[in-house]
Parts: sequence; C-alpha cells; structure tokens
Amino acid sequence: MRAIFPGSFDPITKGHVDIIRRALKVVDELIIAIMVNPDKQGFLSAQKRKLMIEAACLEEGLSGFKVVVDDGLLVDLAKREGVSLIIKGVRSAADLEHEAAMARANKLLLPGLETVLLPANSQTAEISSTLVRQIASLGGDISHFVPACVIQAIIDQFSTLKQQD
Ligand code: PNS
Repeated sequence: MRAIFPGSFDPITKGHVDIIRRALKVVDELIIAIMVNPDKQGFLSAQKRKLMIEAACLEEGLSGFKVVVDDGLLVDLAKREGVSLIIKGVRSAADLEHEAAMARANKLLLPGLETVLLPANSQTAEISSTLVRQIASLGGDISHFVPACVIQAIIDQFSTLKQQD
C-alpha cells in the first residue's frame, strides 16, 4: 500500500522523521508531500525543504519514500497518485481535533480517502517547526529538535533573512 504524509515541513523536525520511520513500517511507499498551509507564512523555499527532508531521511537510512512539492489540494494529489491513505502525526489533543477536522473535510472532498493519525512519541511530542524557527531566530540550540544534517541550513536561512532586513 502507498500513502501520503503531507505537511509544511518548514523545517523538517525529529518528530517528522519519527513519523516517516514508523509509517514506512506499514506502507510500501510513502509520498512525503510538501504542501501549502494557508495559515502559515513560509520560511524556507519548497526546494530547500525538499533537499532537507531527503538528507534527513538518508541520514536515518530510510528508503521507500519520495518527496514531492505541490501547491494544490491534498485530495487532488491523492487522486493523481492513486493513493487512498493519508498519514499524519498528532502531538496533542488540540492537534487531534484539528487533524480529525481536516480528515473529515478531505473525506468529503474525496470519498474513500482515509486518514490514519499516528500519536507522537514522548521524545518528540513537544517538537514543532514553529518552535524550531523561534529558537533558531534567537540564536538558540536546535540540535534536540531537528536532524543534525539540517541545522546549518536553518542557521544560514536566518542569516540570509537578517541580511535582507
Ligand atoms: O504541517 P502542517 O502545516 O500541519 O500541514 C498542513 C497541510 C499542508 C497538510 C494542509 O494545510 C494541507 O493539506 N494543505 C494543502 C491544501 C489542502 O488540501 N487544504 C485542505 C485541507 S482540508
């Protein structure tokens, strides 16, 4: 079975990598889809996010995934890919409520599209890309939150943004 793991991945965190690793145990191919969340302002370009996801997964020795960038609806990507399973991680009760609403909306748009929610492990439940961006922007240590291979790219992105100010 193939599944889509959609998200903003801005940037990828250790929490995302954990969900990818666990999802790959139950599906044959995982399509990691970098998509637009209209509620979030972009930090890294989609292309940089893609390279970082690929590097993080390779660093973990993972295989059986592909990374795609898509600026449309998740249901349209699912149709094009012939996929009927979405996988997402949930860290909290608030996450669960939000993800359940998205799952219901996606199912209304594409009947037959199921969403499986994986609870975050206790080691990663507090990690979010938003937190990573906030800590990095203030010069803090993000090594607990993101894969080692993406740390420098995040720091570089903040330097570039500061130079542009
Ligand atoms: O990592 P995030 O920000 O929680 O991921 C949310 C994302 C990008 C998966 C969601 O916003 C999404 O599916 N965007 C694509 C557009 C879409 O299909 N929106 C309707 C969802 S009901």
